[in-house]
Amino acid sequence: MQTTENTKTTLGLEMATDPRWVNIAEKSIEFILTDHAWCEQKAAIHGISIISRFSQFPQIVDTLAPIVAEEWGHFRKVLKELKKRGYELGPQRKDEYVNQLNSFIKKGDHINKQLIEYLLSFAMIEARSCERFRLLSLYIKDPHLKSFYHEFMVSEAGHYKAFIQLAKSFEDEKYITNRWNEFVQFEAAMVNKIALRGDRMH
Ligand SMILES: [Fe+2]
Ligand SMILES: [Fe+2]
Repeated sequence: MQTTENTKTTLGLEMATDPRWVNIAEKSIEFILTDHAWCEQKAAIHGISIISRFSQFPQIVDTLAPIVAEEWGHFRKVLKELKKRGYELGPQRKDEYVNQLNSFIKKGDHINKQLIEYLLSFAMIEARSCERFRLLSLYIKDPHLKSFYHEFMVSEAGHYKAFIQLAKSFEDEKYITNRWNEFVQFEAAMVNKIALRGDRMH
């Protein structure tokens, strides 16, 4: 993925983040890094829980196992960056973005449909994270952080694609596209309401 590509179009997001967010974020880089570290840790945990719950599907195990390893690698990478700067991970904070997105997940449906709900919500988080990493990689002043965030952008874009593709292995394309569009609309309205903070990735 090129940094010049329009992530809004590439990832199908409806609502683009104001690039001025980077100016606030770089002023509170300790909090952006700690929040980011927790996001990576949660991504790994969510992947593990999906493998445990849906282990009867080989494509889930095969695709998710390496993604979990990558997310854990991301967590360690952000930890290293924190340490380098003399910061600590500290306590976990409330993740308003993920909590609100979870409320959109339909529960109690057929197992395949339930799994699709989780996969699309993961794809959504990856897409938004990727968009934010792209902005950081483009506009943050520190050259080291530019390439640091560029790497995350590329990796999370790959996860986004993998989750969408996985979802398509459980239902026809039309169903996935329609449900994905509902997620995108919900997320856009949600992002519009959640105050953009310089100490949060989402
Ligand atoms: Fe990650
Ligand atoms: Fe990811």
